Amino acid sequence: MCSSSIFKGNFDDFPDQNCLPAIGVFDSGVGGLTVLRQIYKQLPNESIIYFGDTAHLPYGIRSQAEILQYVREILNWMQQQRVKMVIMACNTSSALTLENVRQEFDFPILGVVLPGARAAVQQGKRIGVIATPATAKSNAYRQAIMEIQPDVQVWQVSCPEFVPLIEQNRIHDPYTIEVAKCYLEPLIKQEIDTLVYGCTHYPHLAPVLRLLLPSYVKLVDPSVHVVAACAQELDLLSIRNTRLPMPTRFAVSGCPQQFAQSGLQWLGYTPLVEQVYLTDATVS
Ligand code: DGL
Repeated sequence: MCSSSIFKGNFDDFPDQNCLPAIGVFDSGVGGLTVLRQIYKQLPNESIIYFGDTAHLPYGIRSQAEILQYVREILNWMQQQRVKMVIMACNTSSALTLENVRQEFDFPILGVVLPGARAAVQQGKRIGVIATPATAKSNAYRQAIMEIQPDVQVWQVSCPEFVPLIEQNRIHDPYTIEVAKCYLEPLIKQEIDTLVYGCTHYPHLAPVLRLLLPSYVKLVDPSVHVVAACAQELDLLSIRNTRLPMPTRFAVSGCPQQFAQSGLQWLGYTPLVEQVYLTDATVS
């Protein structure tokens, strides 16, 4: 049973009111933690506000209209938190909504698809993309990759079972390995030389995927590259934080305890997680 929040304090009471604005990072769930880990590595001075829209998970089987509504609500909330920039740590949101919302907010919004596509074409010529059903159907990766490098070949595979399995922490479950085999089979048959994680949840599956893929297949994690792009943007706008960062603030729309438990697994510490009800978050 899920109580309203495991964090009983009020973030407004934190003695951090004078610190520089944070970067907002969001995903439907724990997938964005792969981006957060990259931020800790590449941008250790930045303060982060992380939002997991766990009440609406998984995004990958939802319509564009639903995802757009959730993304707008999250960005409005991020605006209220006075973030200086937002990273959509979610391929599904990036593929389906980035172009719609970019002009609606006065802070820069970065998506993962373009940085991922740029990195992929530098790695190989036969590129596989594993993604949520919505991202695969959108063709966002194929389009982005072909625009940069028209002479490569791209195969996209929709992997609807991965996100629920990862959220349930069933990474090493024999069933997960069977499912992964099934999704990778057509890509291995096509002799791909590069595989893009077209969903931020999937790097959590790296040990399983590495086991199943031929050793010459290079793995591209767009999280690494979106954070590199974020660093460039911060420098360009001269808004990089040089002081010590505040502790990462975690908020979810669903169950805070569940997120905190998963956080321990992926972050190495148990995060304090608050529950936030976004206005009008009623599409289900
Ligand atoms: N991690 C997200 C992505 O990159 C969302 C997955 C989902 O909720 O289906 O697409």
